[in-house]
Amino acid sequence: MDTSAKKFPESFLWGGATAANQLEGGFHEGNKGMNIADVLPGGKERLAILQSPGFDFQIDESKYSYPNHEAIDFYHRYKEDIALFAEMGFKAYRMSIAWTRIFPNGDELEPNEEGLAFYDRVFDELHKYGIEPVVTISHYEMPVNLVKEYGGWRDRQVVTFFERYVNAIFNRYKNKVKYWMTFNEINSGLMMPIMGLGFSIQKEEDRYQGTFQAYHHQFVASSIAVKACHEIIPDAKIGCMILFAPVYSYDSNPENVMYAIQEENIFNYFCADVQVRGEYPTFIKRYFKEHNINLDIREGDLELIKEHTVDYIGFSYYMSRTEKKDKSDQENIQGNIMSGVKNPFLKASDWGWEIDPIGLRISLNKLYGRYQVPLFVVENGLGAYDKVEEDGSINDDYRIDYIREHIQAMGEAIEDGVELMGYTSWGCIDLVSASTGEFEKRYGFIYVDKHDDGSGTLERKKKKSFFWYKDVIASNGEKL
Ligand code: BG6
Repeated sequence: MDTSAKKFPESFLWGGATAANQLEGGFHEGNKGMNIADVLPGGKERLAILQSPGFDFQIDESKYSYPNHEAIDFYHRYKEDIALFAEMGFKAYRMSIAWTRIFPNGDELEPNEEGLAFYDRVFDELHKYGIEPVVTISHYEMPVNLVKEYGGWRDRQVVTFFERYVNAIFNRYKNKVKYWMTFNEINSGLMMPIMGLGFSIQKEEDRYQGTFQAYHHQFVASSIAVKACHEIIPDAKIGCMILFAPVYSYDSNPENVMYAIQEENIFNYFCADVQVRGEYPTFIKRYFKEHNINLDIREGDLELIKEHTVDYIGFSYYMSRTEKKDKSDQENIQGNIMSGVKNPFLKASDWGWEIDPIGLRISLNKLYGRYQVPLFVVENGLGAYDKVEEDGSINDDYRIDYIREHIQAMGEAIEDGVELMGYTSWGCIDLVSASTGEFEKRYGFIYVDKHDDGSGTLERKKKKSFFWYKDVIASNGEKL
């Protein structure tokens, strides 16, 4: 790859990204209700729970620990953390609002004032430093009450509750937040419905009929949110958010090439096609037929979806995925929610996620070529073990290398003509990992003294990457 500095637009939104459940803590404070992340145990068991059927959404403290309950205590330390983001020169901070701070059970009629006031304080603190909040409305944080009483997004009533929630936050924060996203990694529910769709697979019917009915409700809810956002905050932009991992065919065997296309269609494009183009794509109609899926689509739903499409695409990019129709002779790779076969050209992270910066340029080209709407890389980063040296320094050169190469890939994509709004690196401050509930899987420029055995002072320390990223932002991506 040509590594000479590329020009990023002057308005480029450099920053970092987090989600409420992974950093706030204070899980019972301010009248907050319980959400899905609060009932997910920490450690490797979490991934197994997310991938297997039958989870009951109950807490069992005799067996597990629950790291999201305290997380890194941003709830009490947000001022200190935002000051550090400002010191790095952040232009934007991607965060989420915990639905359960605003509607603790999800189905109340009136919002919780203490929760609303908390985010007022956070937004005010960000604006003090000229940092633009980029807010995800729902990031794996559905109220547990909606899971238990309604069966998650499979129940149409949840659309009404979500509408109440978005109206409350748009009206309250209309002067403070101009960038919004509806559902985090909306397509991830195809692999792990627990976090995104609010139910656990119990029977085959859930996997097909239940999953896609839940999706239909999310698409309706997303369009309701887009419409409300445009009406209440006319100068705001609202995007969808997808997990994008370009799918490569293992080889040039047409069987494998076609298989890779099918996987990419369902996993990468299905949700974005509905949210950006406003229509169910033709390939999914065939899939519905073959799996006997009959959606309950109410009068006006399809018109609403068609009329209220998103303004931009936010997406996470961590890795590419290589696929082969018959995988029996291949080594399996577990990555960010999805799996695939080993790509012999790529190295992997400490957690086995294959590292592929060119894949980001490929993703940007594919998405822009298909949709021609502005793109925003709202998640990207390296989960790694970090070591604090005796002198207190943390020399995370591996993270600097990873991010540098991905920024170079974005520069190339901009030269290719892609319209790119910004880059918010995932977990800009160490936090609880989503898929494995660990502290030791660190993404941050800021180290947090907190460990998987529950020990740690929660003290914040600047890693080497902190100073590096500060220079990247100050030079608008020229000094890498
Ligand atoms: C994305 C999620 O899937 O990847 C984040 O939106 C998550 O919530 C991130 O933290 C990294 O995954 P993990 O499992 O390493 O935390």
